[in-house]
Amino acid sequence: MKRNILITGGAGFIGSHVVRLFVNKYPESMIYNLDKLTYAGNLENLKDIEDRENYMFIKGDIVDGEFIRVLFDKYKFDGVIHLAAESHVDRSIANPMEFVMTNVIGTVNLLNAAKAYWKDDFEGKLFYHISTDEVYGSLGEEGLFTETTAYDPHSPYSAAKASSDHFVRAYHDTFGLPTVISNCSNNYGANQFPEKLIPLFINNIKNNKPLPVYGKGENVRDWLYVEDHANAIDVIFNKGKIGETYNIGGNNEWTNIDLIKVLCKVMDNKLGREEGTSEKLITFVKDRAGHDLRYAIDSSKLQKELGWKPSLQFEEGIEKTIDWYLNNQEWLDNVTSGEYKNYYKEMYVGR
Ligand code: NAD
Ligand code: TYD
Repeated sequence: MKRNILITGGAGFIGSHVVRLFVNKYPESMIYNLDKLTYAGNLENLKDIEDRENYMFIKGDIVDGEFIRVLFDKYKFDGVIHLAAESHVDRSIANPMEFVMTNVIGTVNLLNAAKAYWKDDFEGKLFYHISTDEVYGSLGEEGLFTETTAYDPHSPYSAAKASSDHFVRAYHDTFGLPTVISNCSNNYGANQFPEKLIPLFINNIKNNKPLPVYGKGENVRDWLYVEDHANAIDVIFNKGKIGETYNIGGNNEWTNIDLIKVLCKVMDNKLGREEGTSEKLITFVKDRAGHDLRYAIDSSKLQKELGWKPSLQFEEGIEKTIDWYLNNQEWLDNVTSGEYKNYYKEMYVGR
């Protein structure tokens, strides 16, 4: 089937993997990547597919409602996969308003544009909103988030994502807009901006810089390899039931400190350092405000109903990820110049 698919945030970490998958897998469809190219967006992530005939990049801001409306008329999108967002919790603590603008207003602009362009002819149309498990808040030592867990966000990031999820459901319930939502756990893999735990620590280990562990490092996250998330997005976009929500997770829980020790060990080995060398870089720093203790996802609905499952074991995924960062120094140099240096100083020096 030939479709005109709009992917927002396609120059970012997860978005670039989704764009690549769709451009390669659906040559008969046209894939439009709309991205503002903030500090987190990088067209280098898509160099390998940028010349494809079924791919087009559009630079633009989802906060600009009129611009978005014109795009729908011009390119006749019949599917939307919405990933564009401000995505880093620490930045949301420093500057919540940017998260409200992009994550909430930007999402409502896209919903309005889809509603206006599709009018009441929803046949073959889909608005797919990509969200996070962080909307569910924090778990104690037991239990998993399911699709019916009540929302309880604690950071400005998760509050803005929760708000956008509510708007998507409201547009489905009120206007009949064909929507689907997925909530995924923490992703890792190539092309993640080195402000998030795994790429930041790989970069710091490599450069013999301190590894700033928040609090005692006891917080737990459920890690999923980014290409497995992209595959889940493909499955849900094509087979998901309209109006439904699907949780996506790796069934792969780690305390931060245990995960960091694995990174140190694998990297000592790869860098030819004596075992134990990199662990000496671990430095416990002031905890993140409102730091959620534990996230863990029950993805059985997606597995049973749509047949998705993660393809990679964590050990294999983390090796591949470390190798990617070690082999892509130029990418790291480019993204850690300029604005990144000020960010690092503000966030970590004297913490
Ligand atoms: P990212 O920060 O790497 O990328 C976000 C992209 O959105 C960037 O390319 C940026 O330029 C673009 N963008 C930001 N503001 C924009 C605007 N106003 N208009 C147009 N484009 C804009 O984020 P990511 O980690 O790839 O996350 C993508 C999506 O997946 C987000 O919606 C996030 O909430 C969700 N998610 C992320 C994770 C994770 O672990 N990273 C887990 C679950 C869900
Ligand atoms: P992060 O990658 O920011 O993802 P999220 O907060 O969305 O889960 O952080 C993952 C975990 O690592 C989280 O518990 C916070 C912790 N963390 C640190 O201990 N130090 C750091 O420098 C960063 C960025 C995160």
